[in-house]
Amino acid sequence: MSIKIFFSLVLLFTVLITDTGHAQNIFTIHYPPDKIIKEYGLLGVSFSVKEGTADKVIIKVNNEPFKKLDEIKNINDFSINLEPGTNTIEFLALKDDALVESVSRFVFLRSDLIGAYKQWPPDYRKDNFHSRKQELCAECHTMDPAEADRKPVIIASQSSDHSLEKHNEKQSTCYSCHKGILSYAYVHGPASVWSCLSCHDEKSSPRYRIEKPETVICFKCHLDKQKLWMNKKHKHGPVTLGKCTICHSPHSARYPFNLYKRTWDLCVNCHYELGSGRHVLGDSLSQRGHPTKDKEDPIRIGRELTCASCHDPHASDFPHMFAYEVDNLFDLCQKCHQKKMDQ
Ligand code: HEC
Ligand code: HEC
Ligand code: HEC
Ligand code: HEC
Ligand code: HEC
Ligand code: HEC
Ligand code: HEC
Ligand code: HEC
Repeated sequence: MSIKIFFSLVLLFTVLITDTGHAQNIFTIHYPPDKIIKEYGLLGVSFSVKEGTADKVIIKVNNEPFKKLDEIKNINDFSINLEPGTNTIEFLALKDDALVESVSRFVFLRSDLIGAYKQWPPDYRKDNFHSRKQELCAECHTMDPAEADRKPVIIASQSSDHSLEKHNEKQSTCYSCHKGILSYAYVHGPASVWSCLSCHDEKSSPRYRIEKPETVICFKCHLDKQKLWMNKKHKHGPVTLGKCTICHSPHSARYPFNLYKRTWDLCVNCHYELGSGRHVLGDSLSQRGHPTKDKEDPIRIGRELTCASCHDPHASDFPHMFAYEVDNLFDLCQKCHQKKMDQ
């Protein structure tokens, strides 16, 4: 048999299996629909399998095995952490270890931090889960907010009382589906007590919409910052745009201050020309330039030297958004190096 015929047969065979797979319609994916855009990295997934058609389900996320279900329930729910850009979720159904159907879903996580992912591919669309009546989900989940969800959060009452952390989760109707949203180490105040409605408007259309610009919601509680920053002479680009969540997660994140990246990596993400780790002294005092990381900050004891050691990430009255009240370079240098000379 010639190679050509052999491959045609293989191809035909593949088409046949896929076709019968489709004809059987083993999977019903309740969520997500295909080719949707998400703004935040946690995605709830829900699916069912036609009874008796499969004994095992494997879920792959971005080509990596993610989950294996040996016991298939009527409704199977889980959540995944998306990567910026296009994510592929594959559902594979097996019977007696043979593949009987595979279905894929593509989900695009938009990111303001990564140029290539600011804009989504042309055939993707936003999807508003809560703007539709979700009758199937309502069979087991409470879909409407409870009184506890509406309890206001006051910033002053929380700053020193960490016992409030997560105490509200059992009362929150959002918890059963969105529990993974607080899975990173640094959790934001109102999210930590499941006060989701302090930011997501229950009555808006689409439901739970975030008011824009975001600064409006952030400054509802961080009033002191509004007073402090908005009257300054120089405001940082992203702050002027009202996009606090370019840098901060409103829910939870891997790094202190709920930052999506470590401070230095975050700054260099946009100011990539400063990514050498050397800066300021470039071609004058020292050929090597001034360090911007991997040293101790002489003023903020116990913290690393980073871009924020010299620049305020939000706003400043001083040139180049200096973090100290200094009008010129020399005074800035003195802040850290004077101390050394005195020793
Ligand atoms: C037959 C009952 C049932 C139905 C119907 C149901 N769920 Fe669930 N779901 C559950 C249970 C039980 C949990 C686990 C809850 C817990 O641990 O608090 C869960 C958890 C979840 C989770 C969180 C999973 C995780 O591990 O992070 C999501 C997301 C979810 N459901 C979405 C949905 C959606 C969307 C629908 C409607 C299409 C739906 N569910 C319908 C029973 C159901
Ligand atoms: C039945 C499970 C379920 C419950 C209960 C639930 N959600 Fe969701 N929610 C989802 C799913 C599924 C999505 C779409 C996928 C995703 O973003 O994870 C979603 C999406 C969202 C979105 C994005 C906008 C949208 O409509 O797609 C917001 C905001 C949100 N939920 C907030 C809440 C809040 C606040 C509560 C509690 C009052 C809540 N959800 C309760 C399952 C649930
Ligand atoms: C401090 C304000 C704030 C709080 C509190 C908050 N969120 Fe959000 N949430 C946001 C912002 C901002 C976004 C980004 C969405 C946007 O820009 O449209 C977002 C996005 C989301 C999304 C994804 C929307 C998408 O398109 O991917 C979900 C789901 C969500 N929030 C659920 C919750 C849940 C559940 C809680 C309670 C634990 C909660 N949020 C608490 C501000 C908040
Ligand atoms: C409902 C009130 C509320 C809203 C709205 C709110 N915050 Fe917060 N925020 C808090 C509380 C409470 C804390 C924890 C108390 C503290 O450490 O000051 C906090 C802490 C923070 C911190 C961490 C401070 C630290 O020292 O670790 C950051 C960053 C932050 N918020 C950013 C934001 C951003 C960005 C928004 C808008 C998307 C926002 N907040 C909206 C109440 C709020
Ligand atoms: C360009 C990234 C970036 C943007 C945009 C940004 N922040 Fe920050 N923010 C940071 C960094 C970095 C820190 C930690 C600073 C440090 O190391 O001293 C921080 C710290 C904070 C803190 C806690 C420390 C403090 O200064 O009190 C709060 C609260 C905060 N930001 C709120 C906001 C709000 C509200 C907005 C929108 C108006 C915003 N941030 C926009 C990067 C950013
Ligand atoms: C999302 C992209 C983004 C991130 C992240 C970012 N910046 Fe910026 N930054 C900008 C933009 C845009 C401007 C305004 C540029 C202009 O006006 O030329 C700016 C301006 C500045 C300036 C003012 C320059 C001058 O001469 O006045 C400084 C200083 C600065 N950023 C420092 C930082 C630091 C420190 C961080 C990390 C905490 C950071 N940036 C993170 C986008 C970003
Ligand atoms: C030791 C203090 C110090 C550190 C650390 C530092 N800077 Fe600067 N930065 C300065 C000074 C001083 C200037 C003004 C330089 C000049 O006028 O030549 C400046 C200027 C800038 C400017 C505007 C001029 C330009 O070169 O484009 C930006 C943007 C900037 N810094 C970003 C950053 C970022 C991002 C980091 C971290 C990678 C950082 N800086 C770390 C002191 C510092
Ligand atoms: C926020 C504190 C801070 C400020 C402000 C600051 N420095 Fe530094 N500087 C440091 C630290 C930390 C080191 C590293 C010391 C070490 O290696 O132990 C350093 C190192 C240096 C070095 C040695 C460089 C090398 O490669 O070892 C020079 C030269 C220097 N600084 C000059 C300056 C000048 C000039 C300014 C003002 C434009 C300035 N510094 C502002 C903290 C600062």
